[in-house]
Amino acid sequence: KMNTFISNLMAKMTVDEKIGQLNLPSSGDITTGQANSSDISKKIKAGQVGGLFNIKGVDKIKAVQKIAVENSRMKIPLLFGMDVIHGYNTVFPIPLGVSCIWDMATVQKSARIAAIEASASGINWTFSPMVDISRDPRWGRISEGSGEDPYLGSQIAAAMVKGYQGKLQANNEILACVKHYALYGAAEAGRDYNTTDMSKVRMYNEYFPPYKAAVDAGAASIMASFNEVDGIPATGSKWLMTDVLRNQWGFKGFVVTDYTGIPEMIAHGMGDLQTVSALALNAGVDMDMVGEGFLGTLKKSLAEKKVGIAQIDRACRLVLQAKYKLGLFTDPYKFCNTERAAKEVFSPANRQVAREVATESFVLLKNNDNVLPLKKSGTIGLIGPLADNTANMYGTWSVAALFDKSVTVLQGLKNVLGDKAKILTARGANFLADSAMEQRYVNIHNPTYKRDSRTEAEMIKEALEVAKKSDVIVATVGEGSEFTGESSSVTDIQIPETQKNLLKALAKTGKPVVLVLFTGRPLALNWEQQNIPAILNVWFPGSEAGNAIADVLFGDVNPSGKLSATFPQNVGQVPLYYAHKNTGRPLAEGKWFEKFRSNYLDVSNDPLYPFGFGLSYTSFNYSDVKLSANTLSKGKSITASVTLSNTGKYEGKEVVQLYIQDLVGSITRPVKELKGFQKINLKAGESKTVTFTISENDLKFYNSDLKFVAEPGDFKVFIGTNSHDVKEASFTLK
Ligand code: IFM
Repeated sequence: KMNTFISNLMAKMTVDEKIGQLNLPSSGDITTGQANSSDISKKIKAGQVGGLFNIKGVDKIKAVQKIAVENSRMKIPLLFGMDVIHGYNTVFPIPLGVSCIWDMATVQKSARIAAIEASASGINWTFSPMVDISRDPRWGRISEGSGEDPYLGSQIAAAMVKGYQGKLQANNEILACVKHYALYGAAEAGRDYNTTDMSKVRMYNEYFPPYKAAVDAGAASIMASFNEVDGIPATGSKWLMTDVLRNQWGFKGFVVTDYTGIPEMIAHGMGDLQTVSALALNAGVDMDMVGEGFLGTLKKSLAEKKVGIAQIDRACRLVLQAKYKLGLFTDPYKFCNTERAAKEVFSPANRQVAREVATESFVLLKNNDNVLPLKKSGTIGLIGPLADNTANMYGTWSVAALFDKSVTVLQGLKNVLGDKAKILTARGANFLADSAMEQRYVNIHNPTYKRDSRTEAEMIKEALEVAKKSDVIVATVGEGSEFTGESSSVTDIQIPETQKNLLKALAKTGKPVVLVLFTGRPLALNWEQQNIPAILNVWFPGSEAGNAIADVLFGDVNPSGKLSATFPQNVGQVPLYYAHKNTGRPLAEGKWFEKFRSNYLDVSNDPLYPFGFGLSYTSFNYSDVKLSANTLSKGKSITASVTLSNTGKYEGKEVVQLYIQDLVGSITRPVKELKGFQKINLKAGESKTVTFTISENDLKFYNSDLKFVAEPGDFKVFIGTNSHDVKEASFTLK
């Protein structure tokens, strides 16, 4: 039915109108200066626009849709896209935070609510999930992804796609767009948009799996990345867009470029606008975001036989199919319902979920002498630039966030404490000492941030006065919302010096200090780990930040988040990730340095906090690993189990992690790879047996012929609380 409908429609379309469907301008509403609205409405009437993004609000969207379906010759409705990355008005934690939850039902729920709110506001296409594996905290966009691991990343990619799209039938189910295909997270030196270069074996085994998982989950669209892959910009790579994506993975949706991805190929050195536009179309790209290379040159390229009508038809059909699947041909205003928007957006119920999701994303990095949870009594000194800061609770890409409606840490503490305890506050520091530099970090999405004009010494003095009167200090420090995200790469991953000076002064008081860390990337926290008794990493928690932080600080919720990316000791160790190779000269376990081994003179090979790490207010004990058999035959499975016991005083959740090592392979294999996890809730004193099934499929990898195979031989199974602290057993694949 769909194919006939689209064939009939396309039979009536001119070549110009077909090319028009491939054009995706930005309205200029959110990202400034790239396009102007009256120009766009002229283009819509002329059939030169297939979709629009960055336009916000039901009324505006409805008005623009009306132009398309009433004033253009073919009356084809538009797609309306937006970067709904971690929520719409109700903002969830940044994706890197969500990835520390390790519970796919919760991840999916956050995407579902984002889709409900966005769709009620006229949006039918989100540029999410971002599934780029990244092992480089210098890269600002590490905050937008799910960290370093292909297995965890794949689970999250699939859960997000399902959350956004559902069955793509209801008026709250929208198109997902998997991005940025491919390898965008592997930019050299962590500098955004930079060159990537890696072996195909590494691509297939370590960087491709989340894109493929999203495709397998039915993702309707995929976004090309800005970077080059194997010497060809991804936007112009036929190998990526057709051979791998469509022919190997069976992707049926449409490919959109990233912002100006097509004209950027001129700077990459691939030719003029006409050449690069033809390159992109022939590679398998269907929609041109902002670049207008398709709109301006494809007709000429058709006449000159640089592209064929079959390519234009392919792209046009795929875009129209997406519109058909959304139901826009039946009702172009399906997603424009002001009553639904008033009821379903930023509702108390959604905010409650955001509060719960945020608490689950927090990672307790240190808790000496059980400083946490805090008592709901006495005097609390709440100190730091993030203590009462509405604009910086959300993190990057919060394009629909209500900046004055986030719950600050101060407000959250008050909400949870009532009059049970006294709170004293001091700002303590600006984000950065240098105001010009701070301006660069704080950026456009933070219009309400105001710098304190006092000197560092004056601010610390005030903070120490507050500290003196307090029983405990809660220091809210770290990064601002826009320190990470697009074009926010750095070469120093420590807490900025002026805030560190504040922490040093607070630590010297001898009062217990709890560091509530805001960050969008793994930071190097050596000094903090050595000198601050308790560290709770809250990432950027979103709309309900303060409430969620208070829930965890006072023990109403026991933290259970586990890191999805390694925290290095210093930036020089980067890239540092748990699933590394052994090398021919590995350093012996527990050693720091041995001459002529693979290590550094000045720092051990250990991370500060390994992948999968995260503490709880309670303690868990793991029994030895029991295998149902020591031999696994092809086509069969075995089980690996442990008994997990809650040996502490609090009820709590633990993420039990299963890793496997292939000891001998036709190519070198990682020392450990995550292959399963389960999040288990146990009451104090309770125990449970946790069982994983292992089959041949879990042992497969891409060999040097890029064949997905399991090779017979010996394997180790590790089960534990993080990638480092594990118990092990062995089996053989026959
Ligand atoms: O979706 C984004 C992408 O992640 C980065 N460049 C701009 C796009 C649209 O806003």
